[in-house]
Order: sequence, then structure tokens, then C-alpha cells
Amino acid sequence: MAEPDSAVSIQEPFTAASATASVRTAASMPQSGRMWGFALRDVLPHKLSADGVVAVAGEFPRIARFLSEQFAMFTEESQGSTPNPIVSKRKLEYLRDACDLIELRHGDETVGVFVGAPEDWSSYYVRMFAVRRDFQRPAVIRRFVRECLFTPLAEHAVERISAETSPANIAMSRLFTELHFHATGHHLSDRWGPMVRYTRFLSPASEEQFLRKFGAGAPADSPRKNEELEA
Ligand SMILES: CC(C)(COP(=O)(O)OP(=O)(O)OC[C@H]1O[C@@H](n2cnc3c(N)ncnc32)[C@H](O)[C@@H]1OP(=O)(O)O)[C@@H](O)C(=O)NCCC(=O)NCCS
Repeated sequence: MAEPDSAVSIQEPFTAASATASVRTAASMPQSGRMWGFALRDVLPHKLSADGVVAVAGEFPRIARFLSEQFAMFTEESQGSTPNPIVSKRKLEYLRDACDLIELRHGDETVGVFVGAPEDWSSYYVRMFAVRRDFQRPAVIRRFVRECLFTPLAEHAVERISAETSPANIAMSRLFTELHFHATGHHLSDRWGPMVRYTRFLSPASEEQFLRKFGAGAPADSPRKNEELEA
């Protein structure tokens, strides 16, 4: 289980109370669908492992319950904040109505969750992914990110994906590096403490521009290593 200081930026009102919040109505559309005419749930369900882990369109109450049961340290309260009730209500509505919500299901259990949303017209922001400890490290998340994020977002002209994590979160930092994210920022947050920002370019032109400006001296990517990781 991750330590509290490894939490990333989804310290949302995922409490037992929010687990009973109403499910997003079938008619409602996450921000990605409204902005881009495409939502990540459109490519689901998607099988991720031979033993039956499947990515499916998420249901907010189940995601809230999963996080409160498995990752209770990912709350603002556990980080020492006392959220304003009005802000908490808005956050809940934002997560429920604006974000892409995905669950990793195994049988009738939720074993992982993903929450994300467009950051601007050409950028996507990953707020959270977390996998139940006994389902970690058979490369399910690596596969999920490639097949359910990179591919569909790139096909819809999204140019970059960004995410943040604590510098102490070794699992996330390694995963980002393997998936060819670049470290693109550091900041201090009143809510989550020190965070490193990572960006994965989906558009070769955007990555070329980034490397031209900032990548002088960095060794070229190794195709052999990437082939190994695809295997
Ligand atoms: C981060 C997390 C989602 C990764 O899930 P996962 O199912 O283990 O991911 P994968 O199996 O696809 O692992 C891919 C790579 O990530 C890195 N990694 C994953 N867990 C790791 C760990 N405990 N220590 C070091 N590296 C780790 C490894 O490089 C791994 O590749 P390898 O197993 O071939 O060495 C999972 O560790 C998790 O849920 N952590 C707790 C919640 C969290 O911190 N979420 C991020 C904040 S939003």
C-alpha cells in the first residue's frame, strides 16, 4: 500500500458518504465527450489480462467505495486539510459529471480505478489511477495506459497527456518513465505537497518541439528497450 506522502492529486471527497452519491445519469456526458465528441468509455469494455481483468465504464459510487476502502490515505483530510463543504460538493460533482471514470473489474469486483479529464483543447490530465495491491505488477496498468489511453486519445488528435505524483512515489515514477513520459515540472501544492509533473507526448510534432527546446544533450530513445517493453 502506498504511503500517504505518495498520494497524487485526487484527494477528493471519496469518503463512505460519497460512495452513496447518485450515479451519473446515462444522458450525461463527461467533458471529453462534450469537448472532443469522444469519451474514453467509448472504447470499453477492453480485456487487459488473461485471467480476466477488464476495463469498463466506471460507476462513481463504486469508484468512491473502492478508494475509501483501499486508498483512504488519498483524501484531503488525511493530508491535513479541512475542505470547505461547498468546495467538497463541487468537487464531487466535477468528478462524477465531468471526468472520465473507468474501473478495472475482475469478476464482480473492482480491482482498480482511473479518473481523468481534458486539461485544455489538446491536453488530457490523469487525476488518478490505483490498483488493488494483490492485482499490482502483472503489467495491467502499463497495458491499460497504452491501449485505453494513448491509442484512443492519439486517434482523436489529443497531443499530450499529463499527470502528477509525489517524488516519493517510486512505482508511479518508474511507470511514467517506462511509458516514455517526460518530467515537465515540479511544484508545491497546498493540497498535495510536493509534486512532479510528467507529460507523455502523443503528437510527434509536440515531442520534437519539446526536445528541440529542452532536450539538448539527452541521449536518443532506445528502440530496442521499447521493443522489450512492448513484449
Ligand atoms: C502505480 C500503480 C497504479 C501501478 O500499478 P501496477 O498494476 O503495479 O502497474 P504495472 O504492473 O503495469 O507496473 C508497471 C511498472 O510500474 C513500476 N512499478 C509498479 N509497482 C512498483 C513498485 N511497487 N515499485 C517499483 N516500481 C513499480 C515497475 O516499473 C513496473 O514494471 P515491472 O513490474 O515490469 O518492473 C500501483 O502501484 C498503485 O495502485 N499504487 C498505489 C496507488 C498510487 O500510488 N497511485 C498513483 C497515484 S494516482
